[in-house]
Amino acid sequence: MTTSEKRTRYWLDGCFDSFHWAHINAVRQTLTLVPSQFPVHITVGVHSDAEILKNKGPPLFGERERYDLIRGCRWVDQVVEDVPYVTQLSTIDQYNIDFVVHGDDPVLDADGNDCYAFAKAAGRYVECKRTAGISTTSLIERILHPDKPRISSEEPLRELLRAFSQSATPNVPVLTGEKGVLPEEFPAARALTWGAWDCFGAGHVELLRRIRDAGGGSLIVGVWDDATVEEVTGEKPLLAHLERALALVQCRHVDAVILHFPRTPSRPLLSSLDVSTVVTFGETYDADTSIKVLTVDCPPLQTVALLREKVHAQLKLFEDRQRRKGA
Ligand code: CTP
Repeated sequence: MTTSEKRTRYWLDGCFDSFHWAHINAVRQTLTLVPSQFPVHITVGVHSDAEILKNKGPPLFGERERYDLIRGCRWVDQVVEDVPYVTQLSTIDQYNIDFVVHGDDPVLDADGNDCYAFAKAAGRYVECKRTAGISTTSLIERILHPDKPRISSEEPLRELLRAFSQSATPNVPVLTGEKGVLPEEFPAARALTWGAWDCFGAGHVELLRRIRDAGGGSLIVGVWDDATVEEVTGEKPLLAHLERALALVQCRHVDAVILHFPRTPSRPLLSSLDVSTVVTFGETYDADTSIKVLTVDCPPLQTVALLREKVHAQLKLFEDRQRRKGA
C-alpha cells in the first residue's frame, strides 16, 4: 500500500436500530476523533436480530433494514453484517482496523461482560461523546403515545443539522421554504423531490437512490414540516421536522435539503431553485412548466402504523412470557 492509499481505519459496532440521529452523530464524530495525517475509513458492524434479542431485547427494525439503513449513511465506507455483541480482536483484525469507536457509556452483554474489554486491553479503543436527546426507547414511547411532544427544543437539532451539513463533502446546503437559493457552485443538473421522510428506513434510502438516478444529476429534497405531514397523512409524524431533515442530510443520495417545503411547490419556487427535473413517487404532479416530470416506483416504506403493530406484538409476546413464568 502506498502512503497515498493509507487510511486510518475505524470500527463502530452496535444495533443501529431505526433512524436515530445520535447513532449517525457517533459515525460523524469519528471523522475527526483522532488527529491523523491520513484520511478516515469507517466500517460499521451491525448485530443480528438474534444477537440483540439475546443481549438487549427485540429490535424495532429487522436486521436487513438496519444493515441497509446504515449503508445509506454518507460517512460509512463499509458495513459488516451480523457481528458479535462483544467486539472480538479477530473480527477487527480481519478488517485491518486501527481503532474501535464507541460512545462514552458502558456497554455490557447479557452476562455482564464489557463489550469493548478486548479492544481496550489492546489499546485500540477510542470514545466519542454520546449524543443526548434521543434513544430507541424514546422512539418506542413516541409510537405508543403519539400525543406526547416529540422534542423539547429545536436548538440542539439545528446545531446538529449545521454540523451534519458541514461534515458532508461537498457540504449539503439546508435551505428554508420559499426562500430557496442554492450556492453558486451547486451543480446545474438539478432534480427535485419532496415528502414527509418519516420513520426513515432502508426503503427511504432505496427510494432516494432511485430518485437521484432517475434525475440524473444532483438531488434537492424538500421536507414537509410537522403540520403538513399531519395534514397529508392524518397522523403526527414519529420524527420531528428537523429530525427528518437530519435523516436526509446524512443520506448519501441527497445533495441539498429544503425545510418547511410546501405540500406541492409553486412555480416561483421551482424557478428560484432552477430545477431541471421533478421526480415523484406517489401522487402525480403537473408542473405546468417546461420542467420534466418523472415518476419512480416506491419501495415498501416504514410507517408509524406498521411500527405500532410491531411494538404491540412485541409487548404481547413479553407479557405472555411473563405470565407463563408466573404460572
Ligand atoms: N450512541 C451515541 N449516542 C446515543 C446512542 C448511541 O453516541 N444516544 C452511539 C453508541 O455509543 C454506539 C453507536 O451510537 O457507538 C451505536 O449504538 P447502538 O448500539 O446502536 O445504540 P445504543 O447505545 O444501544 O442506544 P439506543 O438504545 O438508543 O439505540
